[in-house]
Amino acid sequence: MLDASYYEKADEIIEHYGHSQSALIPIIQDIQNEYRYLPPELLSYVAKKIHINEAKAYSVATFYENFSFEAKGKYIIKVCDGTACHVRKSTTVLERLYKELGLSKEKSTTDDMLFTLETVSCLGACGLAPVLTVNDQVHPAMTPDKVSELIQELRGESE
Ligand code: FES
Repeated sequence: MLDASYYEKADEIIEHYGHSQSALIPIIQDIQNEYRYLPPELLSYVAKKIHINEAKAYSVATFYENFSFEAKGKYIIKVCDGTACHVRKSTTVLERLYKELGLSKEKSTTDDMLFTLETVSCLGACGLAPVLTVNDQVHPAMTPDKVSELIQELRGESE
């Protein structure tokens, strides 16, 4: 169950874009920016408010890969495992992250909601391989030791 503040925020965003059906994507984008995910309850709420069929709203949101229905951590780490990064040992970077964060392929977010770990197929910065991003900030030429330092720094920042 979401608390009332989520619905208030959604109302504010809906007011900003207006109640037209074409506002669906900008509205849910803003909601996702606010919470780092799109709570399914809010998608239904928005659909009702702008008079769009709920199933249609879901199909729009699932069509765009960018929308996530699951809560994510404060820091979203994306490790590139594209060809250029892979040959430069991105796997060792990923393994260190799994170890440091206690995550795995099956569990991508830490229980304290600080980190979410994802893999992507190319971040468009192949010359800097192996690359990862933290909330879209690029970290080039990563090694397992640099990863450990980075995690320590991020943990320090949020204390
Ligand atoms: S393959 Fe990693 S950035 Fe392109």
